[in-house]
Amino acid sequence: MQFTLPQQYFASEDIFHEEWERIFSDHWICVGRAEQLANPGDYFLKTIGHENIIILRDQEGQARAFYNICRHRGTRLCSQDRGHLKGSIQCPYHAWTYALDGRLTGVPSVHRMPEFDPADFPLHPVALELWHGIIFINLAPEPKPLATIFGDDLALFDPWRIGDLVTVTSIDYHVKANWKIIVQNFSECYHCPVAHPEFNRLTHFESGATIFEEGPLFGGTMIISRPDGGASLSGQRSAPPLQGIAVEALQELHFYHLFPNTLLILAPDHVVLYTLTPQAPNRTMIHCDWLFQPDTIANSDFDASDTVQLWDVTNRQDWFLCEQTQLGVQSRAYAGGPYYEFQESVLAAFDQRVLDALGHDAA
Ligand code: FES
Ligand SMILES: [Fe+2]
Repeated sequence: MQFTLPQQYFASEDIFHEEWERIFSDHWICVGRAEQLANPGDYFLKTIGHENIIILRDQEGQARAFYNICRHRGTRLCSQDRGHLKGSIQCPYHAWTYALDGRLTGVPSVHRMPEFDPADFPLHPVALELWHGIIFINLAPEPKPLATIFGDDLALFDPWRIGDLVTVTSIDYHVKANWKIIVQNFSECYHCPVAHPEFNRLTHFESGATIFEEGPLFGGTMIISRPDGGASLSGQRSAPPLQGIAVEALQELHFYHLFPNTLLILAPDHVVLYTLTPQAPNRTMIHCDWLFQPDTIANSDFDASDTVQLWDVTNRQDWFLCEQTQLGVQSRAYAGGPYYEFQESVLAAFDQRVLDALGHDAA
């Protein structure tokens, strides 16, 4: 029998700091969608622990990421959360200026420093990869490519053509729970009959199959009970099926976790992307995007609210339970409990991956 993690993994500042160093600063983490960088010069900022990263599209159209610090005296370069850069980034302090590919191109009075070569002082780059229109960054100096880490399993996502989809609605949830409690909640449906009356009407909690149990990709399927049903509050599809979905897969719902911070729901007619940003041992920000096909959205009759509401209602039911769990595991009486192996084996595997990443022998 496998047991849940000890209290310190949900409450300790020290372990939270270790997680920043060994998990969130050393793995590919989702930070957003390529559609947020529609044009050259578009940028947004992402805070990861104490770090602040500029994610931008350069003049050649390439997405890039840099630490948001000046090479002169370390000042933050950009202070607005998002915006448009007109071809360069200028430090607000002494006006050192950087091209959008990171080169230092302008230093006031540089002729007075003959020994100074601006080529030696580009912005500090951060590794960035685009996968199906999702932006991943990795703060490790020379990370292995994302495809190497997740391997051939990533081919499973191809039919949804996530990179072609467009965000219709986004919601930020501020949840008073540890990020691992949220991942664990997403990774099992043992709680669905009692917690999710709306969702439970659509699919039987034991209908699914685990496909990936070892990580770094976790998850599997559930089956929509009605042959023509959809994942929405009414039980109808909100849109025609996505173009790549096979007829025999029209009743499947897929739930995946890309370790550490990316959660995906793949439905026949839409995709929901969850990006987790831990903020404290007991707080996590969850950004949720609902994605649909562009030609669906272009249809004037299209209304995503039925689908958005299903997941929003379900999310809020989940966040309540996550917050109640956070409160419970902080109790002096909490001593860990046994996972239900028929529905929660993925959670035990996830815990082990966390421990391995932290270099902890055993919880
Ligand atoms: S700190 Fe940026 S130009 Fe001086
Ligand atoms: Fe749930």
